[in-house]
Amino acid sequence: KKTIDDINVKGRRVLVRCDFNVPLKDGAITDETRIVAALPTIKKLMNDGGRVILCSHLGKVKNGPNEGESLAPVAKSLSEKLGKEVVFVSDYHVTGEAAAKAVEAMKDGDVILLQNTRFRGAEETKNGEGFSRELADLADDYVCDAFGSSHRAHASVAGVTKFITEKGGSNAVGYLMQKEIEFLGNAVENPVRPFVAILGGAKVADKLNVISNLLEKCDTLIIGGGMAYTFLKAQGKEIGNSLVDDSKLDYCKEMMEKAEKLGKKLLLPVDTTVVSAFPSPIDAPVDVEYVSTDAIPADKEGVDIGPETCRIYSDAVKNAKTVVWNGPMGVFENPTLAAGTIAVARALAETDATTIIGGGDSAAAVNQLGFGDKMTHISTGGGASLEFLEGKALPGVVAADDK
Ligand code: 3PG
Repeated sequence: KKTIDDINVKGRRVLVRCDFNVPLKDGAITDETRIVAALPTIKKLMNDGGRVILCSHLGKVKNGPNEGESLAPVAKSLSEKLGKEVVFVSDYHVTGEAAAKAVEAMKDGDVILLQNTRFRGAEETKNGEGFSRELADLADDYVCDAFGSSHRAHASVAGVTKFITEKGGSNAVGYLMQKEIEFLGNAVENPVRPFVAILGGAKVADKLNVISNLLEKCDTLIIGGGMAYTFLKAQGKEIGNSLVDDSKLDYCKEMMEKAEKLGKKLLLPVDTTVVSAFPSPIDAPVDVEYVSTDAIPADKEGVDIGPETCRIYSDAVKNAKTVVWNGPMGVFENPTLAAGTIAVARALAETDATTIIGGGDSAAAVNQLGFGDKMTHISTGGGASLEFLEGKALPGVVAADDK
């Protein structure tokens, strides 16, 4: 792949697609991880004398352009972090006259941020060619550093590259993309073994392809979280009121057979933390019991892996050389039901293995529990890292490849 180390941006206008889709509360950014992760690329391009034109989507923009989904807070945060004003082009048309004027006024090393790309409906279409072309018209070269958005075949992520190529410019990936591809890619394609994959989260349906793909690549696959109960039921166990997807029982059986055929270890919880009623609100105080997964009472619901399972899963991680983790082991938002997720996070923090956290909930859990700086790599992608682990070619990654 062509990277920003391979292009000379001095005096050139470089459009950089970032993933600044950050969580906001009352107009304030509550987690700046994605902004911080974008800084190395931005700084490099600034220092090399590029004219850096940043763009990103924010939120879903279901009801058209609105101030609540404006990128203004991101421009402010970037200005503080870069120690230099990042000019924000607030125009809802994104690529309109205001953008053209701002670009024209740029000097080498300047940075501007365009408005939320999803304010233009054409952003979310694969062939939003009008918008892709308008974006390309603002710049000479294009850099994709939006790993978290790279599973979207959208105008500013993928469509734009064709028009940059047409005008003789370069398409390249930024440092964040490079890092994500290296860690996630190596883990899946070229892992130092033993390779242990840990999957959790509520629904089996969200993880079908990733279970199947990782089962082929890893030595041990560990299952926790809400989706474990569908596996347990598929084994013929009683699971009480635990979360289950009856339409996926056959799938779970198939995966257990596949593990056996491939000689892979597939670990399921041997005990579980149960409650009589799911806490509401989610972090409300709750009474728990620990029971064997061979004896889940009919009127109870499993909400976390149990203490014995914590020990088994932690042991499996101890001897690993590569660990990939996606999805919490239980309802970690509730302090009483976070023990399984904490145990796994601690095991990862203590192992010498390369530890890679698929983004989204698991990244939030690891950071929230204070283990963030102990991991080798925490992906900034939620859906994107999951699709990467499924072995899919990501449109943003493919498009950034200059042919
Ligand atoms: C994410 O937060 O996972 C990415 O920014 C993609 O957002 P999307 O799911 O709204 O496309």
